[in-house]
Amino acid sequence: MSQASSGHDTALMEKIVSLCKRRGFVFQSAEIYGGLNGCWDYGPLGAELKRNLKEYWWRKNVQEREDIVGLDGSILTHQDVLKASGHVGGFSDPMCDCLLSKARLRADQIEPQSGTAYSYSGASHEESGWSVERPYSVLVRDGENENKARKTARQYYAQFLTDRQISPKKIELQGEVTEEVKESTRFNPENGSLLTEPREFNLMFKTHVGASSDDADESSVAYLRPETAQSIFAQFKNVLETNRVKLPFGIAQIGKSFRNEINPRNYTFRSREFEQMEIEYFCREEDGMRLTDEWLETRLTFYEEIGIPREKLHILDVPDGERAHYSKKTYDIEYEFPFGIQELEGVAYRTDYDLTKHQDHSGKPLEYFDDEVKEKFIPHVVEPSAGCDRTVLALICEAFEEETVTNEKGKEETRTVLHFSPRIAPVKVGVFPLLKNKPELVEKAREIQAMLAPYMTVFYDEGGAIGRRYRRQDEIGTPYCVTVDFDTLGENDDETKDTVTLRERDSMEQRRVPVGELREFLLDAIR
Ligand code: GAP
Repeated sequence: MSQASSGHDTALMEKIVSLCKRRGFVFQSAEIYGGLNGCWDYGPLGAELKRNLKEYWWRKNVQEREDIVGLDGSILTHQDVLKASGHVGGFSDPMCDCLLSKARLRADQIEPQSGTAYSYSGASHEESGWSVERPYSVLVRDGENENKARKTARQYYAQFLTDRQISPKKIELQGEVTEEVKESTRFNPENGSLLTEPREFNLMFKTHVGASSDDADESSVAYLRPETAQSIFAQFKNVLETNRVKLPFGIAQIGKSFRNEINPRNYTFRSREFEQMEIEYFCREEDGMRLTDEWLETRLTFYEEIGIPREKLHILDVPDGERAHYSKKTYDIEYEFPFGIQELEGVAYRTDYDLTKHQDHSGKPLEYFDDEVKEKFIPHVVEPSAGCDRTVLALICEAFEEETVTNEKGKEETRTVLHFSPRIAPVKVGVFPLLKNKPELVEKAREIQAMLAPYMTVFYDEGGAIGRRYRRQDEIGTPYCVTVDFDTLGENDDETKDTVTLRERDSMEQRRVPVGELREFLLDAIR
């Protein structure tokens, strides 16, 4: 299958990953020590981009709405909260281990394979008298050489040799039998080795709280939260009693979540530490389905506002049987990443499941009293739950472009540009003096930088030709650049005194703007 038809553009993804490293958006965590799998650090530009996204989400969902309030819950979570929510007993993935390489694989993500399974009952080494009895199998796929099975089996049995001097090649395999298999997920696609039976693997990070705790003390167990949602449910009563909120209303939270994912992959897409932006929107039962549809629309509009067009988003109406058992309706909002169409956010109608569970487990009433009809009930909830890191990745993928442009000398060249929406761009404006060895130009440019810096992220640059400075800003997605030149100083014409060149990233157009109008113009553009 071609890359285009499989929907996977590996070359594009490699360019994006390389740009992110080169310009300081994303680094692998603990890279100097070989890296911590599934964890990422955002560099200076990535940190700005992520902050802008979170701030815009908070503004749109909390500040600009009367019906949603915020929460900032603890990451360390009481074990009872997660027992009630079902995470302690059930938040797991089926996993199996490769008997040869020890690689751990998600059982439900193994690609089915067909071929001939070569099975053995054990192995021996005549000269030394060593033997081992253990069943083992290797899959030889159609078209592969059968000797692969024997070589792999010898490597497997060699693990049990006590004398390391014995070469695996000298091991004799016992009781070889073959069998045709179709669409089997019992073998490692990488090497054909048999896998262990799938076992459930809980994805939560467990820890112990308190100085005197030891690992055997079950009462000190706490977990790093696997979602931000549960502290919202656990604090529902406190928020209700301390705020004059009336149904329907929401509680929003942005924060870190942790899942010990078996296969972290696709760059930052599936990580072990990530940030979520979640809203639990409480409502009456009769409004649940309607509000789920309304939230879907609201969230699609949000993505458009930050620069992810609707045509790149796919809505999956999750069918019965595939939704969480408590959910009456779930939409997955998916984005066309270079590595395939993948989930960005879930909008789920979770009914009254969570509050009911917490009420039952805690023994504390979590009902809402409706003044008008003098009735008590447990509210239902609609949950738009977005991944912050996934959205950052989508923003970078969407913004990335390599354009062919004609330079000042009339030659064609490649311009790498990130077309970020000004509201989420990490740097809002580059400020340049035309020449760095003209103190008057430098002084004026520094004045403009100081004027704008309290309001937005400004990057001052005086190194190299102006064209190269523009390109450096294009590559990190800076929407505007301001150049202070001799016209600014009024050296050519009094009319252009105190005006600067404002250059727009996407059109590359330049126009003159009075310095006095700059701040307002930019503030408007980045809002
Ligand atoms: N409270 C509901 C909940 O947590 P989820 O579908 O498991 O639902 C919601 O997660 C969102 O969190 C996902 O749509 C995704 O954007 C993000 N997310 C989940 N697991 C993630 C991971 N391992 N790495 C990065 N983001 C993740």
